[in-house]
Amino acid sequence: MREKAVYLDNSATTMVLPEVAAAMGKTLTQEYGNASSMHSSGRDAFDILEQARKFIADSIGALPEEIYFTGSATEANNIALIGASRRAREINHDKNHIIVSKIEHPSVLNTAKALEKEGFSVTYLSVDKDGFVSPEALRKAITKKTILASIIHANHEIGTIQDIKALSQACREKKVLFHTDAAQSYTKNFLNVKAQGLDMVSLNAHKIHGPKGVGALYIRRGIPVAQITFGGPQEGKLRPGTENIPGIAGFYEAAEIALRDYDKNRKQMRKLRDYLTGKLLAIKGTLLNGPRGEKRNCNNINISFLGIEGEAIMMRLDAVGINVSTGSACSSQSLEPSHVLLAIGRSHGQAHGSLRITISKFTTKKELDYAYKKIVATVKSLRKLSQISYQSMEMEK
Ligand SMILES: Cc1ncc(COP(=O)(O)O)c(C=O)c1O
Repeated sequence: MREKAVYLDNSATTMVLPEVAAAMGKTLTQEYGNASSMHSSGRDAFDILEQARKFIADSIGALPEEIYFTGSATEANNIALIGASRRAREINHDKNHIIVSKIEHPSVLNTAKALEKEGFSVTYLSVDKDGFVSPEALRKAITKKTILASIIHANHEIGTIQDIKALSQACREKKVLFHTDAAQSYTKNFLNVKAQGLDMVSLNAHKIHGPKGVGALYIRRGIPVAQITFGGPQEGKLRPGTENIPGIAGFYEAAEIALRDYDKNRKQMRKLRDYLTGKLLAIKGTLLNGPRGEKRNCNNINISFLGIEGEAIMMRLDAVGINVSTGSACSSQSLEPSHVLLAIGRSHGQAHGSLRITISKFTTKKELDYAYKKIVATVKSLRKLSQISYQSMEMEK
């Protein structure tokens, strides 16, 4: 068996906690009923489902009936964008426009592209050099035809945390729905649908030490959303199919644990984030991607190493037991530079040199010191081989 890696890719996914696995195991082997069954096993499963729904709802200031469990944040984003857009157009044929930012996760961007094929028009909003969407630009993009805007809460690549209260306010003034993808921010940042005026929110479990393959969508009561898949009556018909009770039980347990030490976890991760960021930026020919300080997700570091490929650094680090990423896991298979880095104005070369390091509450200083040592050595050796000097690239900064 391979030795345990120094895992610094917690925005891709996280370790499932033993408590979470235990809660899931119980629903797999003991309380395994179908939540729709009328007998006692079914009722037990139903109770778990509804307890989880109440907890997730409470945790974001929502009502239980406003939470719909899904198979992922991807699915939640699809239901929110496609379901709300189709329904709005059914009600009023003039409504055919939606707004997303250029730095959304592919599960929003590609859903927007699919809606374009159905005849909807989409505005892709630009962001500033740190990845922020301006509420003023959002306000200006809204027309009489606009149905909704979807702006990611904490960015998966560069950690930018948007002012979703100001953005939702801009939408509400013009009677446009506001959706946010909070997969990277849930339990790491303040998220409250009432205080922040949110109409729809997507969440998932596997970024918070819960299982993969389970998510949730908050839909404010009364918002019309069309079904996009068809089957039984589960989840208010919006997500038909037998509920994934083990996944949902794990999601509940993970959220409960994550929120228990919310302040402490954030503080600890921020401290470690800033510690490694400072050390890495002291290496010559480096650039921080995304903002500094409180407006950056507490677990995110994204740095471009000029003159070399992030891909090459990642592979060399993997060989010495360190797991990092070069972009979002979903797009890191492709050789295209990250759309998020291009949107904040990075050149192709700068984007190709980027490395994303994402920590968790279990990350230690010792692990970061080890990673730092290996990164320094890797960068030095790759730069020796590189045809492009980082000094010439620094001119592009
Ligand atoms: C911001 C964001 N949205 C959505 C997703 C997709 O989540 P899931 O894997 O649950 O479909 C991810 C995962 O990478 C993400 O980072």
